[in-house]
Amino acid sequence: MKKILILNGPNINMLGIREPGVYGSQSLANIEENLNTIAETLLLELTFFQSNHEGEIIDQIHKAFGNMNGILINPAAFTHYSYAIRDAISAVNIPTVEVHLSNIHQRESFRHQSVTAPVVIGQISGFGAYSYELGLRALHNKLIEKR
Ligand code: DQA
Repeated sequence: MKKILILNGPNINMLGIREPGVYGSQSLANIEENLNTIAETLLLELTFFQSNHEGEIIDQIHKAFGNMNGILINPAAFTHYSYAIRDAISAVNIPTVEVHLSNIHQRESFRHQSVTAPVVIGQISGFGAYSYELGLRALHNKLIEKR
């Protein structure tokens, strides 16, 4: 069984309440439940972590070193400016996929840049909660390709 860390950044704990027109009506718990269902069919073991604090996300990325086979991350607003999270992803060298609920390229110009995108396998953006499912399947595909 491959182990995947599912990381979510600031304000993602507010999904369902927060700007539903932009982020949809599903809560983070709903999304995690759906990912667990998919993980069973793909034989993946998921670990979930959400934080509003940059350092806590970095600590989780470091802890993943030697323990996790892949990372699925929605860095949320940190996407646009956290060189520290980018460096952490780069440091552990664990295959990572970046996901966003909204299409960040369609929104305010400050969201167009992702400082994490250059250090991940790929980015999925704009499919709402389904972005996570697509991201998990894409990551799984990369991991089995590697075998
Ligand atoms: C987000 C997009 C970011 O710009 C924003 O700060 C978020 C969520 C998304 O999933 O669409 O918090 O990462």
